[in-house]
Amino acid sequence: ARVAVLLSGTGSLCAALLAATEDPGYPAEVVVVGSDRTADGLEHARRRGIPTFTCALADHPDRSAWDRALAEALAGYEPDLVVSAGFMKLVGPAVLAAFGGRLVNTHPALLPAFPGAHAVRDALAAGATVTGATVHLIDAGLDTGPIIAQREVAVRPDDDETRLHERIKEVERELLVETVARLSAPGSMSRQATRKNP
Ligand code: GRF
Repeated sequence: ARVAVLLSGTGSLCAALLAATEDPGYPAEVVVVGSDRTADGLEHARRRGIPTFTCALADHPDRSAWDRALAEALAGYEPDLVVSAGFMKLVGPAVLAAFGGRLVNTHPALLPAFPGAHAVRDALAAGATVTGATVHLIDAGLDTGPIIAQREVAVRPDDDETRLHERIKEVERELLVETVARLSAPGSMSRQATRKNP
């Protein structure tokens, strides 16, 4: 499958996916990596000669113009699957119309617990002894779409946000690589979605 990745930060999840695609047997290839800002994570793609783009909210008159520009930027690469991997923006109706059903996000908590941008901090503050990683379909809400895969991560008594988040990201990377492979298999959801959107 042709995969587009969206990121906003260091892109360690994107880097893990790119590494997986170097295995000729892996059923997906990353065709573009986009961001909403100047992000270090784009370097992982550039180093491999994979196209990148930046679609910054500040470069557009309003949010819906940004959403349309993002949908157009993605469409230019004809992805079968769009993966938000540390992309810190809510996509809008244009992106959802173009890629809904084949647009997934990875989140560092066991949704529906701890949605939002501070999931790891919130899990610690709540005294959770177990948290984890989730890959879910993106819908119009904040981390609310149907769950595709989850994996637990134990919280250790001496954990702080950084240490716990790093441990979660190790699991997130595995879960994302496995889930993208599963969704890329022939006859999977993403192909059906593609078939639905002629
Ligand atoms: C990941 O935990 C992701 O779920 C969250 O931010 C982190 C991104 O990490 N939204 P990276 O930029 O891939 O290193």
